[in-house]
Amino acid sequence: MNTSSEHKPQPIGIFDSGVGGLTVARQIIKLLPEESIVYFGDTARVPYGTKSDRIVREFTWEDCLFLLWHGVKLIVAACNTASAIALDELDRYLQIPVVGVIKPGARAAAESTQRGIVGVIGTQATVDSKSYQKEIHRIDPDIQVHVTSCPLFVPLAEEGWTEGEIPKLIAEKYLQPLLLENIDTLILGCTHYPLLKPLLQDILGDEVTMVDSALETAKDVAALMTAQDMLSSDPDPQRNFYVSDLPRRFEDLGQRFLGEQIGTVSIAEPWKGSPPSQFDETK
Ligand code: DGL
Repeated sequence: MNTSSEHKPQPIGIFDSGVGGLTVARQIIKLLPEESIVYFGDTARVPYGTKSDRIVREFTWEDCLFLLWHGVKLIVAACNTASAIALDELDRYLQIPVVGVIKPGARAAAESTQRGIVGVIGTQATVDSKSYQKEIHRIDPDIQVHVTSCPLFVPLAEEGWTEGEIPKLIAEKYLQPLLLENIDTLILGCTHYPLLKPLLQDILGDEVTMVDSALETAKDVAALMTAQDMLSSDPDPQRNFYVSDLPRRFEDLGQRFLGEQIGTVSIAEPWKGSPPSQFDETK
């Protein structure tokens, strides 16, 4: 019996502040269709993007603990805000690999820019963290990075207002300062923004390349799992979705973010308590 391709059947854990991380799950499912997935959306406490670093860190740890209790082999911090603020800490203390969305997006932007002028859009917390600038400058300190928060894009994407007059006016207002800086690459630094891609491309024009952090992250997850021999080849992978509140709303909204029917979404059982073994208490 050939078990070599089945030796890591455990699920990939993906968490986000809510429904937006499904854009990352969507790309991971596309690239790694034989992997089981446990997704946790913290819908009771969304948004993270308007909260302090301390609170985002605390929530992020609890999200990870939930996934660890489900025996995941790798964690994807699909939330840009959580990745921006807490990824270093997760990386330090977790014994399983953890992938965030900032580094993959930053790397793709550094590779794509021709003029060396990159724009980034994200939540206020992601902007304040300066995480995209730091990652891009680690690769190339000469790249100019211009960052702006677009807080109205999250409710627009959730409401399904991704085209038409009002979203266009809002997007023009947000993007104008970046266009004045002459950017040639724009990082979509928030889980929700891929839903606005056609609208944004329309405003940016063909000269500006958009970098979708969700897609870049999925590529990194696939590369890491291949390199570390962590792949599974399950013909019937399980996809389980949990939220901390309002599962029916998540089911309704989720389809647009995931690009396919979600199935049943469960309320997460309370998970606070002593950490499971994948948590390294010696560090
Ligand atoms: N998931 C968040 C992010 O990618 C957006 C929503 C929120 O503010 O929680 O930053």
